[in-house]
Amino acid sequence: MPALEIAVSRPVLPTEGALVLPAAEGEAFAALGEGLLETATREAVAAALAACEFRPKVGAVASLLAPGTKLSRLLVVGIGERGKFGRLEAERAGGAAAAALARDSAAAVAGGRLPAPLLAAFGEGAALRAYRFDRYRTTEKPEEKPKLARFALLSDEAEAVRAVLAAGRPVRNGVALARDLVSEPGNVLTPESFADRCADLEKLGLAVEVLGPKALERLRFGAMLGVAQGSANAPRLVVLRWAGKSGGKGRRPELEAPFAFVGKGVTFDSGGISLKPGQGMEEMKFDMAGAAAVTGVMASLAESRARVDAVGLLGLVENMPSGTAQRPGDVVVTRSGQTVEVINTDAEGRLVLADVLSYCAQKFKPRWMVDLATLTGAIVVALGHEYAGLFSNDDALAAALLKAGEATGETLWRMPLGEAYDTLINSDIADMKNTAGRPGGSVTAAQFLRRFVGETPWAHLDIAGTAWSDKDGKLAPKGASGFGVRLLAELVAASA
Ligand code: BES
Ligand code: MN
Ligand code: ZN
Repeated sequence: MPALEIAVSRPVLPTEGALVLPAAEGEAFAALGEGLLETATREAVAAALAACEFRPKVGAVASLLAPGTKLSRLLVVGIGERGKFGRLEAERAGGAAAAALARDSAAAVAGGRLPAPLLAAFGEGAALRAYRFDRYRTTEKPEEKPKLARFALLSDEAEAVRAVLAAGRPVRNGVALARDLVSEPGNVLTPESFADRCADLEKLGLAVEVLGPKALERLRFGAMLGVAQGSANAPRLVVLRWAGKSGGKGRRPELEAPFAFVGKGVTFDSGGISLKPGQGMEEMKFDMAGAAAVTGVMASLAESRARVDAVGLLGLVENMPSGTAQRPGDVVVTRSGQTVEVINTDAEGRLVLADVLSYCAQKFKPRWMVDLATLTGAIVVALGHEYAGLFSNDDALAAALLKAGEATGETLWRMPLGEAYDTLINSDIADMKNTAGRPGGSVTAAQFLRRFVGETPWAHLDIAGTAWSDKDGKLAPKGASGFGVRLLAELVAASA
């Protein structure tokens, strides 16, 4: 679904739709809408807000009538204390406005005293929050659909606001793309159709390479193929290249020490022979959210013509039980040559990533490599839905990621790695086993990945708790969050 477009214009009172009035704590309500609304209206607004004891905390909203104007209503949105009002607060306030405005077809924000970057951030938050995946709603009546179609920011510094919005558009589009992919059901988004959608990104200037099962066999992706072998939907490895620095052209441009992203792309995770319980299994269509985030960030780099070299690799498979599925106890030979005893076929993500990570490290010799994966239920137990788990063999990369997390609000919490955890995945029959039981489940999973990255600076983000939400969020409706796209775009911008 296309993201809501945000327009910017001079501060003139609109003749239709809602007027959004950002309100700061400790400031006179009667000043709201100054320069746009008449004094009598502003005094009525102040009286109404006082009567309902409105407190302008970030994202608090109050809806009021606007007699004497042609507006459908006024929406007062809290922005908290002006001194503490930064980018993230502005995005959240904008998100709250968009959520409250779903029933209006047009809205304009009285930018007033907000500096251009913060007003733009308000608009960006609104655009992100207004996302909706309604592709499969065929009987919804028009009056039931969210109507918000026109959203304008009114500002004296329209040019400056426009510039910030334009600079952020590729990332917003990347987020929407990731959400679209995650929202698609497993019968529609298979490894093959996911790869087909990636091929569409060539229009942005990305070089897209798709490797099918034959090529993967030639390259000895034994662990990834083991996961795929139970499914009627054959696996794909997608390689997205962006040569924005070296300027390489053609179908497979040479990249110079690129930034590398690797995504877990299990288009449906039934658990395989180690079948998951039926309750909630439908959610496992989201098990490709890592691959979706990588797709989103690569698309955003291309759309913004970023002056960097980057590569994104997507390990696309479906994990199904069948007569051809791999069994618990099977031993597979990974691309790296190391062998793995498959204790539990539901620990499939690490098997896929093992081959893709080792391939990525060897083939692209990246400056660093970050993988994103809905890898473990254990990270949800540890961190809930607030932070994604960060595991890394490189302190500088970890620090850069933590910083990008704070800057974007896609926050990370660093988790440990170490020898004592590593020995837990030793196997009696092979070089390692793919699970080590419940204790430290996210850590042993990361430890497993670490055995496939060699000396490459690497970080693993376990996004199982942050890629999907059961309830409406500040910047996304319930469902796919697109977590990782803004984080990685920021990481690249800060590292370039
Ligand atoms: N895709 C799941 C992880 C997951 C579980 C994400 C629940 C979100 C919610 C992964 O493939 C998986 O099944 N992991 C197992 C590993 C276990 C068998 C060692 C898990 O976490 O239960
Ligand atoms: Mn699984
Ligand atoms: Zn999985």
